[in-house]
Amino acid sequence: MAVKLIKCNQDDLHRLQEISIKTFNDTFKDQNSTVNMTAYIQKAFNLKQLERELANPSSQFFFANFTNEVAGYLKVNMNDAQSEEMGEESLEIERIYIKNKFQKYGLGKSLLNKAMEIAMEHYKNKVWLGVWEKNENAIAFYEKMGFVHTSVHSFYMGDEKQTDFIMTKTLL
Ligand SMILES: CC(C)(COP(=O)(O)OP(=O)(O)OC[C@H]1O[C@@H](n2cnc3c(N)ncnc32)[C@H](O)[C@@H]1OP(=O)(O)O)[C@@H](O)C(=O)NCCC(=O)NCCS
Repeated sequence: MAVKLIKCNQDDLHRLQEISIKTFNDTFKDQNSTVNMTAYIQKAFNLKQLERELANPSSQFFFANFTNEVAGYLKVNMNDAQSEEMGEESLEIERIYIKNKFQKYGLGKSLLNKAMEIAMEHYKNKVWLGVWEKNENAIAFYEKMGFVHTSVHSFYMGDEKQTDFIMTKTLL
């Protein structure tokens, strides 16, 4: 069965919250304290926050629907929605998450290619993202997809300051 990528709108708010929390928990709970995880989830994935992000014209969310289920999602940012000042020529992949049971079936690649397509449609010359230095699985995936480590930035998981690698892919 083929994956279907569907652009999200406000009607998807609750489903977006559900997959955001589930995939974030599954990815990071083993390497982070419950207190820090809870603090981050409450701040980043509360309904008001997600509603604002869905309404921002410089951000776009997509669900990857597979076997009649939301199997993963993507969030991209342009212009001042980017979480670092990277300029008008860049697009950020802020979130790309596939549920555990659907990983390694090519869905991550489909979402990443969607981000590349949007970047090209908007005449961007660079796609970038931040990934936790300890997230070896995601780093290997991004390297496979042609991203290279270009710098670092800080990310707060609750009150813990963590280091994210910035990885970049230049478009022709
Ligand atoms: C990282 C993630 C999005 C990758 O998605 P995925 O659907 O599992 O990856 P795909 O099946 O699309 O893989 C695409 C390619 O990358 C390769 N790849 C995927 N994970 C890899 C890994 N850990 N090491 C090496 N190669 C990897 C695949 O073999 C495939 O190669 P191919 O094109 O030659 O067949 C997914 O594992 C995920 O959601 N992880 C948890 C959340 C997370 O960490 N998100 C990133 C936060 S910054």
